[in-house]
Amino acid sequence: MSLAARPVVIAGNWKMNKTNREALSFLAKLTPQIGNTSCQVLLAVPFTLLQTVKNNALGVMTGAQNMHDAAEGAYTGEISAGMLKDAGALFVLLGHSERRHLFHESSAWINKKVFSALAEGLMPIVCIGETLQEREQGKTKEILEAQLRESLDRLSKEQIENSMIAYEPVWAIGTGVTATPQQAQEMHAFCRKWLAEKWGQSTADLVPLLYGGSVKPDNIRSLLEQSDIDGVLVGGASLSPDIFAQLINYQTLKV
Ligand code: PGA
Repeated sequence: MSLAARPVVIAGNWKMNKTNREALSFLAKLTPQIGNTSCQVLLAVPFTLLQTVKNNALGVMTGAQNMHDAAEGAYTGEISAGMLKDAGALFVLLGHSERRHLFHESSAWINKKVFSALAEGLMPIVCIGETLQEREQGKTKEILEAQLRESLDRLSKEQIENSMIAYEPVWAIGTGVTATPQQAQEMHAFCRKWLAEKWGQSTADLVPLLYGGSVKPDNIRSLLEQSDIDGVLVGGASLSPDIFAQLINYQTLKV
């Protein structure tokens, strides 16, 4: 499948940033700059902003950054897929490296969350990525393979076709160091091949593979030019409406 057949996805991840007032001010500045983009624009926002962003962000898919796998119950401080849906979310990030490393989430738990999200009609964006130490030890593919295998265990063809995957090398997140387009493409091609071996090439060709880790206006084009990079997941650079607008309109940026 050609790249053109998969939509280019530009997803922002606000992490633990912004109040409702700040979100409204961001959207007021962003909306006129979205223009006629052919990209699919997503914003993963804190729970408290889901309704505000859903109601005020025209042309933007609103989603969350995490959830519990249970539908309800005695889990103080947690939130369920049904609650996210109720608040306006259409997708949810699962297994972001900050969840895996700071909050010790395992791929087995992420797998349960993937099923719960899909059961509620939320699209999971499953995040994977190696640490610097793992890369230096030559274990990158082994780590990615294990994270894919365990996080996506038992998914049907239809379920994987309703999901996205984000490759985010941990050493590139929030550090200003981006993987080179070649390094990112190599791992995306590896993920695509793994998906094809498990669900067939036509399914693998349908699943958007996003790259994340210090994506900025000056590197987005060279990343998106790679044949297996279908979109980006952007943290820091998604917090400013002007910079995020440049990313959405990346085709007009000078290389
Ligand atoms: P960054 O974050 O763009 O600030 O590196 C990416 C992410 O954590 O999704």
